[in-house]
Amino acid sequence: MKTLSEQISLDKKTRQIGIFDSGIGGVTVLKEIIKILPNEEYIYFSDSANNPYGDKQDKEIIKLCENIVKLFIEKNCKAIVIACNTASAKAVKYLRKKYPKIIFIAIEPAYKMVHDYAYNEPTLVMATKGTIKSEKFNLLFHKYNNHKTYLLPCVGLADIIENGNKEKLEKYLKKTLGLYKGLVKNVVLGCTHYPLIQKDIGQVLGNDIKFFNGANRLAIHLKEVLSEQNLLNDNIEKDNNYKEKIEFIDSSGKKEKQERFYELLNDNI
Ligand code: DGL
Repeated sequence: MKTLSEQISLDKKTRQIGIFDSGIGGVTVLKEIIKILPNEEYIYFSDSANNPYGDKQDKEIIKLCENIVKLFIEKNCKAIVIACNTASAKAVKYLRKKYPKIIFIAIEPAYKMVHDYAYNEPTLVMATKGTIKSEKFNLLFHKYNNHKTYLLPCVGLADIIENGNKEKLEKYLKKTLGLYKGLVKNVVLGCTHYPLIQKDIGQVLGNDIKFFNGANRLAIHLKEVLSEQNLLNDNIEKDNNYKEKIEFIDSSGKKEKQERFYELLNDNI
């Protein structure tokens, strides 16, 4: 019997790009991708029945991610974007090994970008506990360490953002970020939910803080890979109604997730 990945046909015109996160935070990645690849069609999977991923065991995250990947493969996606730093850190190695024919593009905290553009400056890396403790992030961190970096596991923050509780958010940020005010110049947004609260972080740390986010770089890389594989959709459509070109699935089935997702997608974050 053929494996799922072997069953994929190569009809590039009909195939979507699958993108997933533990919730709707990955919309910040999708927005950057759409800017670079406006002619593609997308399926976005939000696993909000199982979020947050940040404090889960590796095995559990791998299992959740594999289920989403199987769905994308069944839907004949031509590439899969892991728009969740925690899922990338824990599962991409396994997924690439198990599905070698599938194109996986995975987000990671933009720490190399700090090395390239602001090496000498004190930096705060905000991410989930899972990402910060992961082997994948630690390899990146030790490779580009500027010895002026604070690693901050933001336990529960993605969940607060996911649920959109403004009051809780303000309290959380004041309590956890207050001590870094005046101490750091750069913030690495190491979770795809965090760009949604960039302004709020700036309000606590100061508006001159520089933010580093890997989503734009990921989008450029995705385009390069699709182009190399001759998988880009060259059909240029005048109509840019993204709602029709993006299929949204949420594992909890809650209608408000879908509404918030499209709201964020249309919003200039
Ligand atoms: N957006 C996910 C990330 O980038 C959030 C993880 C979570 O659900 O805790 O890490």
